Amino acid sequence: MRNFISVDDVQDLETLVKSALALKKNPYNYKHLGKDKTLGLIFLNPSLRTRLSTQKAAINLGMNVIVMNMDKEGWALETQDGVVMNHNTVEHIREAAAVMGQYCDIIGVRSFPKLVDKEEDYSEDFFNKFIKYANVPIISLESATLHPLQSFADIITIEETKTKPRPKVVLTWAPHIKALPQAVANSFAEWMNKADVEFVITHPKGYELAQKFSGKAPIVYNQDEALKNADYIYVKNWSSYEDYGKVVSMDSNWMLTNEKLKLTNNAKVMHCLPVRRGIELADEILDGENSLVIHEAANRVWSAQAILKEILEKNF
Ligand code: CP
Repeated sequence: MRNFISVDDVQDLETLVKSALALKKNPYNYKHLGKDKTLGLIFLNPSLRTRLSTQKAAINLGMNVIVMNMDKEGWALETQDGVVMNHNTVEHIREAAAVMGQYCDIIGVRSFPKLVDKEEDYSEDFFNKFIKYANVPIISLESATLHPLQSFADIITIEETKTKPRPKVVLTWAPHIKALPQAVANSFAEWMNKADVEFVITHPKGYELAQKFSGKAPIVYNQDEALKNADYIYVKNWSSYEDYGKVVSMDSNWMLTNEKLKLTNNAKVMHCLPVRRGIELADEILDGENSLVIHEAANRVWSAQAILKEILEKNF
């Protein structure tokens, strides 16, 4: 593995999950791997979990870490080629990424979509250019369309807690007051489609994900129907892909409650966080014993550490 942008960068998912679980048991076994190596973490958007867990993972491997909040501390970046930069952008990604590549051995980047132009966001232009010009391994800390470190932590969490070989996992849309990216849902779908689970997606009409990511997963428009016998429910809001970036429903009936849990096989409830209580998820769920949200967040360390370990082993 050179870059970690999507599940397609993973050669063997089962082996990678085992590697993460082994690191969880013995976090400091590979401290020699990161000696004198620098990880740069570049954020163009806010973060709590990704920032802290990836730093912790790198420290466990003996790496040095540099963090830059590019949106607040860096020059405004130009990404278009051939433009005369006589407006607000100060530095071109060609130079900025190339310079960062001189200081760092591996770079993690977070860059959310603008949710205005579907083609621009789904081309992953920013990430592709960053990979091209930085010339060092790149890890996605969440791109316009995917959040692979989150999905990897989610699959680790399911592996650790499942009570049957092939659990039923339901990805459900949840209401929200803002238009959010599709990245977490896209990513969860593409990882679940490669995992040994029965995977179902439920959302109101108009929230269909890009088929490239939802794959052959059945889409059930009736949430109660989808939740029947579920072992895991993955709760997430996303804005419309079809009517790009728009909020086409805010139906509060889609918020998961303890009443809805009665339809399930005592399902465990997952959410990547941050979560808006009382809108996306009921307090009674988040504070109840079925919630796995803190467990998932804790596993972000081991997903990041397994990826960093793999990149360090294969590229240096
Ligand atoms: N789940 C997640 O990526 O959290 P942050 O946005 O806080 O990093």
